[in-house]
Amino acid sequence: MELWFTLFIIVISSTQTRQCCTSKKTPGSTEQLVCVNVTTHYMESLRINRTDKLVCQGCHLNTLTSAALNFTPNRLHLLYLSSAQMHRIEDNAFSKLVQLKKLLLRKNHLTEVNEKTFIGLRMLIQLDLSNNMIEILPDDVFKPMLYLDLLNLNENLIRDLRPRCFNNLSYLKYLYLNNNDIESVDPYIFKYMTSLKIIYLENNRIKELSPLAFANLNNLVFMYLNNNSLERLSDYNFVKLTNLVDLQLRMNSISSIPASCFNGLRKLKYLYLGDNNISRLEVHSFTGLDSLNVLDLLHNEIREFSLDYLGGTPELNVIWMEGNAIRVLDSGDFGAVLQNLKSFDVQMNQLEWFNYKLLHKKLPSLKNLIVGGNLFKCEFLLPMMDYFDGVNATLCVDYGCNETDIYELADTLCNTAFYNESIDSGDSGAQTFNFLLVKFYLFVYFVDFCFAFSFS
Ligand SMILES: *[C@@H]1O[C@H](CO)[C@@H](O)[C@H](O)[C@H]1NC(C)=O
Ligand SMILES: *[C@@H]1O[C@H](CO)[C@@H](O)[C@H](O)[C@H]1NC(C)=O
Ligand SMILES: *[C@@H]1O[C@H](CO)[C@@H](O)[C@H](O)[C@H]1NC(C)=O
Ligand SMILES: *[C@@H]1O[C@H](CO)[C@@H](O)[C@H](O)[C@H]1NC(C)=O
Ligand SMILES: *[C@@H]1O[C@H](CO)[C@@H](O)[C@H](O)[C@H]1NC(C)=O
Ligand SMILES: *[C@@H]1O[C@H](CO)[C@@H](O)[C@H](O)[C@H]1NC(C)=O
Ligand SMILES: *[C@@H]1O[C@H](CO)[C@@H](O)[C@H](O)[C@H]1NC(C)=O
Ligand SMILES: *[C@@H]1O[C@H](CO)[C@@H](O)[C@H](O)[C@H]1NC(C)=O
Repeated sequence: MELWFTLFIIVISSTQTRQCCTSKKTPGSTEQLVCVNVTTHYMESLRINRTDKLVCQGCHLNTLTSAALNFTPNRLHLLYLSSAQMHRIEDNAFSKLVQLKKLLLRKNHLTEVNEKTFIGLRMLIQLDLSNNMIEILPDDVFKPMLYLDLLNLNENLIRDLRPRCFNNLSYLKYLYLNNNDIESVDPYIFKYMTSLKIIYLENNRIKELSPLAFANLNNLVFMYLNNNSLERLSDYNFVKLTNLVDLQLRMNSISSIPASCFNGLRKLKYLYLGDNNISRLEVHSFTGLDSLNVLDLLHNEIREFSLDYLGGTPELNVIWMEGNAIRVLDSGDFGAVLQNLKSFDVQMNQLEWFNYKLLHKKLPSLKNLIVGGNLFKCEFLLPMMDYFDGVNATLCVDYGCNETDIYELADTLCNTAFYNESIDSGDSGAQTFNFLLVKFYLFVYFVDFCFAFSFS
């Protein structure tokens, strides 16, 4: 199809500055204009009327004046001014681009936008302002763009979101605010953004969330708040987010999960709370998470864990608790059975003992119990291995769940002299042999135990 394109070049200005625009026409009536190395002054002399797409490459626009894009008439749909060394946009600079749908201003040096910057862009659907140096988003700044669907503000220096900065973005679906300096979010800032599906707020410094902030976002599906400074969650923070599927709160400083914290999130499937400072969980911490599949509690400060904390999560499939300080792993008193839990990860904790039989009873679908890096002794580990050898679940050292690893762990924890001796008489690689050894050792251990017992 490319061969059908005819190519002709319009060189308007002098060749010494090597500024030029190349027009590409297609058999259909669309036309693309690619401008290379042009300045604002050059843009001001440009006349276009059939162009659909205007792309600026290696441009030096410095200040985008209101005369630079003063094309009348025009039918421009896409304007690409990324990496165009732009420092400033004059008021009303886009006011003639009434049909524009996509405006790309990424990777410039813009420090400011205001309520007059985007006047006229009433058909705009996508606005990319990422990778600039914007510090403040004033009230009504995006107001002219009633149909905006995607707004990318990643990698700016935004620290101040005025309470009405997102006014009139009632069709916005995708909001990107990653890698800024945002510390607080006004409770009413998203009030009219009822179409929002995804919010990215990662790598900011948000300390607190008001439950009111999300009160109207009942179409939100993904919310990413990783790497902020959240210390507290209150009860019913997210109560209105009835369509949320993925909530990511990793790398914050959250210290406890109060009862009913996530109540209302009926469709949530993924909850990421890893790398926080969580030490306290409660019986109703996860109440209301009817659809939860995956719970990430990696690298927190949990010392005691009870299955009772997981009441109200009937669909839970996987729980990750690696790298906490769990000493007590309790199977719970409330008889809650987690029918669907398949993978239970408590590796790298402080467990010496737990009632694995009772735990397994409460987790009838368990496939992998991951226990490496705890404080087990040989006399605890071997019976546990023996137990899991007889049921449908696998005892694993780590996520890889390689069955040979658990025998290596047993070798390390148990009587190595005995092991070395026996190994000498056999093939050191044979895992079946290893396994028989474990069984045999178990037998010796219990005989020994009974023997000692009968004499005490
Ligand atoms: C654009 O400018 C750069 C240097 O400023 C030059 O190397 C390049 O050839 C120019 N491109 C065109 C198409 O003139
Ligand atoms: C563009 O518009 C000018 C007048 O504004 C007209 O003279 C010219 O023929 C038009 N060019 C095309 C390719 O339509
Ligand atoms: C913008 O939003 C405000 C507050 O919701 C509303 O009063 C106003 O009518 C809206 N303006 C337009 C042009 O939709
Ligand atoms: C977390 O965010 C800070 C900026 O707030 C950034 O410097 C840091 O690299 C981020 N950490 C990760 C792991 O992304
Ligand atoms: C973690 O929580 C403890 C109290 O539970 C507190 O003393 C400590 O400062 C917190 N650490 C961080 C990094 O927030
Ligand atoms: C193991 O699972 C199979 C089917 O997957 C089932 O038939 C069998 O009864 C289970 N055995 C035990 C001990 O649960
Ligand atoms: C398990 O580990 C052993 C040795 O570390 C390796 O030879 C074997 O291929 C692994 N098995 C699987 C299924 O990865
Ligand atoms: C058992 O074997 C390991 C190496 O395989 C060795 O480091 C250790 O000293 C041996 N232990 C005894 C008691 O011989």
